[in-house]
This record gives sequence, structure tokens and C-alpha cells, in this order.
Amino acid sequence: MTRGALLGAALVLSGAGALAEGSAYTPEEIAEYAADAGLVPAQLTTAGDAEYGEYLGGECTTCHQQSGDSNGIPAIVYLDDLTFRLAMYAYKAKTRENAVMQMTAGKFGDEEIAALAAYFTTLDVE
Ligand code: HEC
Repeated sequence: MTRGALLGAALVLSGAGALAEGSAYTPEEIAEYAADAGLVPAQLTTAGDAEYGEYLGGECTTCHQQSGDSNGIPAIVYLDDLTFRLAMYAYKAKTRENAVMQMTAGKFGDEEIAALAAYFTTLDVE
């Protein structure tokens, strides 16, 4: 299998996960976002473990309010899964400025980022 075919297979497989329902993005768009960010599509689509995300997310809610209110710090609970992950990877790669978030995101690997996305983007907020 070529690398392209492998990535394609990963994308199709993971399509059954986080982005299965109501994803606003086509596989082509996801592939493009991934390429632009120096990622592989699976990093944006592999389903995260929301329970693990809740555990890891304890440190986030000292700044980002779980209720979705923002007090100078942007709400993260209204972001879609893909946008959330792209933001985390951008801080991690330091292509997006913000010292605290660069340090925060820098600690996490793919599994953690997927888990945090799964938790925060599916919270039931009005
Ligand atoms: C010390 C405060 C603080 C903590 C703790 C913190 N953040 Fe942030 N976060 C910020 C600030 C401030 C910004 C806005 C930075 C900017 O302008 O890019 C931000 C931005 C973000 C964004 C991008 C939001 C958007 O609208 O694009 C995401 C996603 C995010 N944080 C996730 C997290 C997660 C997940 C955690 C915990 C693992 C976390 N943050 C912990 C302060 C914090």
C-alpha cells in the first residue's frame, strides 16, 4: 500500500469516529487542513476518549469556563472538533502565538488532543 492509500484508509476508518455525525467537513477538506498544518488526517479525525478528556481538562477550566461564558478568555466549548484540534496543534507547533497555550498544548500528544476535543466539544451547553 502506498502512503497515500494508507492515509486514505485511516481517514475512512476514523470517519466512523469523532466526525461521523454532522461533520461539516468533507474528507478532502480534512486532508487539506491536515496538510496545511503539517499533520496527517488521522490526527484530526481519530475519535478521542471523552472521559480521558474530562480528566485532562480539569486544568483548562481554571481559564476556559465550562459554561461557555467568556471573560476575556475565549470559550472553547462551542468549537467544532476539527477547529479545536487545529488550534491545539497550532499552539503546539508554535505557529499560533500565546505562551500559556503553547506550553499547555506542548505537553499533549495526539491521544490527549483527541480526548480533550471529544470532551469539550460535546459538552451540553446552552
Ligand atoms: C492560564 C489560562 C489558560 C489555561 C490553563 C488554558 N488556556 Fe486555552 N487559552 C487561553 C487563552 C488566553 C487563549 C487565547 C489565546 C489566543 O489568543 O490565541 C486560549 C485559547 C485556547 C484555544 C483556542 C480557542 C479559539 O477560539 O481558537 C483552545 C482550543 C484552548 N485554549 C484549549 C485549552 C485546553 C484544552 C486547555 C487545557 C488543557 C487550556 N486551553 C488551558 C488560556 C488558557
